Amino acid sequence: MAEAIGIALLGAGTVGSGVSRALASGTERYATRVGRELALRGVLVRDAGRARDGVPEGHLTSDVEAVLADPGTHVVVELMGGEEPARGYIERALSSGRHVVTANKEVMAKHGPELLAVASRRGVRLLYEAAVAGGIPIISPLSRDLLANEITEVTAIINGTTNFMLTEMAQRAAEYDEVLAEAQRLGYAEADPASDVDGVDAAYKLAILCGLAFHVVVSPEAVARQGIRDLAARDFAYARELGYAIKLLAQGRVEPGPGGDELLATVAPTLVARDEPLATVDGVRNAVQVEGDLAGRVLFEGAGAGARPTASAVLADVLEVARDVATGRLPPEAATYAPARVRPPDRILTRHYLRLTVADHAGVLAGIAGILGRHEISLASVIQVEADARARTAEIVITTHPAIAGRLQEALGEIAALEGEVLEVGSVLPIYADGSAR
Ligand code: NAP
Ligand code: HSE
Repeated sequence: MAEAIGIALLGAGTVGSGVSRALASGTERYATRVGRELALRGVLVRDAGRARDGVPEGHLTSDVEAVLADPGTHVVVELMGGEEPARGYIERALSSGRHVVTANKEVMAKHGPELLAVASRRGVRLLYEAAVAGGIPIISPLSRDLLANEITEVTAIINGTTNFMLTEMAQRAAEYDEVLAEAQRLGYAEADPASDVDGVDAAYKLAILCGLAFHVVVSPEAVARQGIRDLAARDFAYARELGYAIKLLAQGRVEPGPGGDELLATVAPTLVARDEPLATVDGVRNAVQVEGDLAGRVLFEGAGAGARPTASAVLADVLEVARDVATGRLPPEAATYAPARVRPPDRILTRHYLRLTVADHAGVLAGIAGILGRHEISLASVIQVEADARARTAEIVITTHPAIAGRLQEALGEIAALEGEVLEVGSVLPIYADGSAR
């Protein structure tokens, strides 16, 4: 019997425990699919004194040197999260000739190209299907199945925590703090959930997706980002009245610019028309919609976080690498790409939803409309609701036709300065339009 393929796990939290459990329950199935047995060698954690559900006894250790130097380990699976020491461990594992599988979008978004180059030089693989959209296959389809396409846009819901929260807030008017705590309890949220609610996690994932879809290097800092903290329950009600859902949408597309093609990459709570497939992706589910010139629109949808769905993606990569080890197949060379030319967010053209609290006096609405008009921002719809009859305040909800974001910001600055008339500029959210409606 050939030697078993040794697997080391770095991390035994939500995902690591899920992977360990799935490895144990699928031993025979995986051996048949790979042609060799898989053997769990060691599991790195910070606190090895605490038993973990799903991790067999005797495997836990906090000794990283022992794990990374184990000669019986062929595949290192990084499931710790965070930038360092995870990046350093991945680099060491690759440099020592071990294949690596990771679910770490932060490391892949910030350091993917250099780590893939190390893997290529050492003739090993670095796979990261679980880094984007949990259990949904999307890295592999973009890298292989859609490779013949010129991809024009990628539009995605790629953070399970926020999609779960927005769904709960929209459907049962639940409070923000309550639904965040529930997402954490269910194991969806990052160790620091600010990464989820501020759109950082989605920006990492979008940078990875845009790199693969448009064959460029995209820094996650180049993704324009707006989080969900400032949304009010009534934004969901107004959006519904106007025929929209609100989703934390990650969008990437390429458009011609003054000096050549430009990448538009944004993450923001966005109004999505209720008849769009993405509007009905609810709960922890994620979806990635890809437009290709040959394939047309393709939609990938499924569970975007959680132990079992993420273990599915991690183990798919482990099995792929294990087959390479079993068959002696050589890994493909890593492609090298140029950095993307990213359009500054203030030059992006889009429709907007605006919610303003104003004094309920004659001429206030006319003043606001006048400022918007002077900045060439055309109104598509206006709703005025009496907010507080005694205080004589009202809420105005405006949707605009497509407008340059920078012009809108200038106009909103002037509107906010209408002293005694405009009490608050509340939510300012983009409205999604697909390529055909833009
Ligand atoms: P988690 O529950 O916080 O688990 C992290 C694990 O890594 C823990 O076992 C922790 O050890 C260990 N660890 C962290 N820093 C360490 C260090 N310096 N040295 C040794 N061990 C260390 O995280 P998770 O939710 O499983 O996520 C893991 C990765 O998967 C992250 O990159 C995350 O973004 C990604 N991901 C998560 C999901 C999800 O649904 N949760 C989905 C897709 C991708 P202790 O147990 O001793 O603290
Ligand atoms: N915190 C992430 C999410 C985990 O909620 O989508 C999956 O990457």
